[in-house]
Amino acid sequence: LCIPITANTNEKALKEIQEASQLADVIEIRLDYIPHPDLERLLNHRPKPIIATCRPTREGGKFDGPEEVRIKLLEQAVELGAEFVDIEHDSVGAEDFQPLQKRGKAKVIISYHNFKETPANLRDIYARLSDSTADIVKIVTTANDITDNLKIFQLLEEVNRRGVLQYAPTAGKPLIAFCMGELGQISRILAPKYGSYLTFGSLDVGKESAPGQLTAREMLEVYHINEINRETSIYGLIGNPVSHSLGPYIHNAAFRELGINAVYLPLKVENLREFVQGFKGLKVQGYSVTIPHKEAIVPLLDGLDPLAREIGAVNTVVNKAGKLMGYNTDSTAALRELEEAMGDLKGKRATLIGAGGAARAIAFGLKKKGADVTLVNRTEDRARRLAQELGCRYRRFEDVTKIDGEVLINTTSVGMYPKTDVSPVPPEALKPGMWVFDIVYNPLQTCLLKEAEERGCHTLDGLRMFLYQAAQQFELWTARPAPLGLMEKIIRKCISYREAVA
Ligand code: ATR
Repeated sequence: LCIPITANTNEKALKEIQEASQLADVIEIRLDYIPHPDLERLLNHRPKPIIATCRPTREGGKFDGPEEVRIKLLEQAVELGAEFVDIEHDSVGAEDFQPLQKRGKAKVIISYHNFKETPANLRDIYARLSDSTADIVKIVTTANDITDNLKIFQLLEEVNRRGVLQYAPTAGKPLIAFCMGELGQISRILAPKYGSYLTFGSLDVGKESAPGQLTAREMLEVYHINEINRETSIYGLIGNPVSHSLGPYIHNAAFRELGINAVYLPLKVENLREFVQGFKGLKVQGYSVTIPHKEAIVPLLDGLDPLAREIGAVNTVVNKAGKLMGYNTDSTAALRELEEAMGDLKGKRATLIGAGGAARAIAFGLKKKGADVTLVNRTEDRARRLAQELGCRYRRFEDVTKIDGEVLINTTSVGMYPKTDVSPVPPEALKPGMWVFDIVYNPLQTCLLKEAEERGCHTLDGLRMFLYQAAQQFELWTARPAPLGLMEKIIRKCISYREAVA
């Protein structure tokens, strides 16, 4: 793991080098961020091997001075003993390019950056860059779609597994490769699996040297990148957006707790069909599926568990010997939470707010338990259709205050962070003694639940449903009991941290 130093003064940079050395294997000093770098001070007493980089603006850096000055700086860094020097691919070949000739013990990284896309001709780029005096080749592109990562993985596999590429005469040189941007984050995390020589993580939020860089702490403490190797199994969350999901925190911690060599990744998916096809080759062992793909994924799978088939929505996918099988753990999880609180649900009158995928799963479960279900939705037509399909009632949204059920369940995202000051129903809909269950868990105390408490209702927050659906998912994937206590502790910690930050 390499941490880039992006401080803009020598003092700050020296401090950050010390801090970074606690986590990093290698430290990159971005000389282009410091207007007057004091190389001697920066390179003296370095606690870890150093990459000296002075990125010009043309390659996405901050250095916009004369090329001779830039090259002089790199030369000096090499003379002072920097272990690595990063040289942009388009500087190579310059007649007077001294760092290459006087490299001393420094290893030369020849780098290529593409801030627009991940081109198809990565092999050619690798061949060209390795066919130079480079010791290490660095190819960094931009992911415009999650499937762009596949091109990078393929290149890394070819370089590392076959050892020698047919098409590169001087092949076999180590390769650093990953995609930038939010959509490229998985290539930064999976770098050790596919044999990227290095991956980069920032010292802190706001200190990133490139788009999509995660913090080094997140890489180490959430994704455990130091434990990722070729054998690591991949799991992930398919959704859009996925950046706020707690899934990576709980599943990665659970894998580690049970000593399972696996990593769980957030996968922001726009084109679901292309994704499912493209990622088959990665042999992903399991997926969680969230908004907006729970129903759309059904026809793309090889088979469905009977419950998922009946519900018509999937939140869990298991790879069974190459076949993708769909399950639904939302329904069971919600019902478990309700039954733990309310006991037998038979004959209980339940009002559901919403008519989307979550409403469908919960209404289906309630019907099975013999509850009397009424749907209420902003778009009445949708409630009517779902009610017809499930064989339950629906009412106009305006009538929600007139319904006198024993339990009211919010299945919509209303009240979820960041718009936390709204409730899906007017307070008059909340009757004393009624159970009110909100599936939103971010925040735990939603506006709906606060008003429900004030009006003398019993309340149930979304934590246990989230916990139970994740635990069942984990059990389907691993056939091992999920560490429920640990998972709950992590969910609570993440939620209170987020509430404190907000
Ligand atoms: P999910 O799979 O999570 O249920 P969905 O299928 O998009 O997601 O369904 C979202 C549900 O929340 C819908 O019932 C939606 O109401 P509409 O059918 O009228 O769109 C409901 N919903 C979302 N935002 C809402 C809002 N601001 N007010 C009321 N209902 C809302």
